[in-house]
Amino acid sequence: MSPSTLFSPHTIRSLTVRNRIWVAPLCQYSVDREDGVPTDWHLVHLGSFARGGAGVVMTEATAVSAIGRISAEDTGVYTDEQRNAWSRIVDFIHSQGAAAGIQLAHAGRKASVYREWGAGGDGTRPIVEGGWQSVAPSAIAFDGYAVPTELSLDEIADIVIEFTDAARRSVAAGFDLLELHAAHGYLLHQFLSPLSNQRVDEYGGSLENRARLLLEIVRAVRATVGESVPIFVRFSATDYTVGGFDPKQTATVAEWARDAGADLFDISSGGLVAGADIPIGPGYQVPFAEFVKQTAGVEVTAVGLITEAVQANSIVASGQADAVLMGREMMRDPHFPLRAAHELGVELDYFPRQYHRAAWR
Ligand SMILES: Cc1cc2nc3c(=O)[nH]c(=O)nc-3n(C[C@H](O)[C@H](O)[C@H](O)COP(=O)(O)O)c2cc1C
Repeated sequence: MSPSTLFSPHTIRSLTVRNRIWVAPLCQYSVDREDGVPTDWHLVHLGSFARGGAGVVMTEATAVSAIGRISAEDTGVYTDEQRNAWSRIVDFIHSQGAAAGIQLAHAGRKASVYREWGAGGDGTRPIVEGGWQSVAPSAIAFDGYAVPTELSLDEIADIVIEFTDAARRSVAAGFDLLELHAAHGYLLHQFLSPLSNQRVDEYGGSLENRARLLLEIVRAVRATVGESVPIFVRFSATDYTVGGFDPKQTATVAEWARDAGADLFDISSGGLVAGADIPIGPGYQVPFAEFVKQTAGVEVTAVGLITEAVQANSIVASGQADAVLMGREMMRDPHFPLRAAHELGVELDYFPRQYHRAAWR
């Protein structure tokens, strides 16, 4: 297994990414004025990953509408002010040689909760004052959250428009790729899973119906951004619950989404059902990524407790995934890719000139 596979470039449509170590989306709950505008925190947070050698730097779940935010401190990309603030961050990411990705998200029934710290918060409690009514495919609450209202057909059509508007703004801000968040129990996952989607119209029931909204969004976003911009979709490959969304359904929907214009599938798991029994351990979601890649014949990324250079390299070199996404290890060490190159003995031509003396000894 060549140690340099992890550092080989990867091309998707017109984008060539410098290596296979990509940053997972990481909510920061750090907007100052509840206006969804990213701040200097986001510049430094995302900028350090770019300086640290990551291939793709992905933003946190970025809301396509105000009611699609998880908390009042989430970022958005539904105003021009937000777009302009993202643009500054994207410019810095590009200056360090990384590609910039944005995760477009709608929280659905998991919206309007306090962030994990500060007044009122543990990240799961509904906002008492200044909160907003959440929406979902069906009026079924996530455990401990407020009951959402069921979306009408007109409101579903509006959500497609919100995603396409957000995609247009993202490309205008300079983002190189878009990821649609259809995982972790948020709105698009709520449509996919029979546990949260009990509609009796064309958006519920069969897998084809449950996938309809996601596929409409993929098609509409592709038509909006043109042929050159890569579109990723993040899935939760299982709800870890009988009767829920599962790896086979994930592979089928990935194939349909590929045919609708998506390029790569970011395979995560869980988040739809509170208290599900998740067998967490090193690389625990990699088999789901490998399954989707093999079954659907699509490109995938693996994520979840990938923390070491040799481990990351072997996932890519063995063909289990096309790239790895890393979250918590990146937060512990935003320069993980530089360190991994040093450990694996790979020489990088993008080790920052200012840090060059750290490259070898
Ligand atoms: C602080 C934090 C924030 C997160 N925010 C998001 C998010 O905005 N969107 C998303 O899809 N996943 C989010 N996740 C999940 C990560 O993207 C990732 O899938 C997960 O942490 C597992 O990878 P890791 O073991 O490398 O951290 C978050 C995880 C953490 C720890």
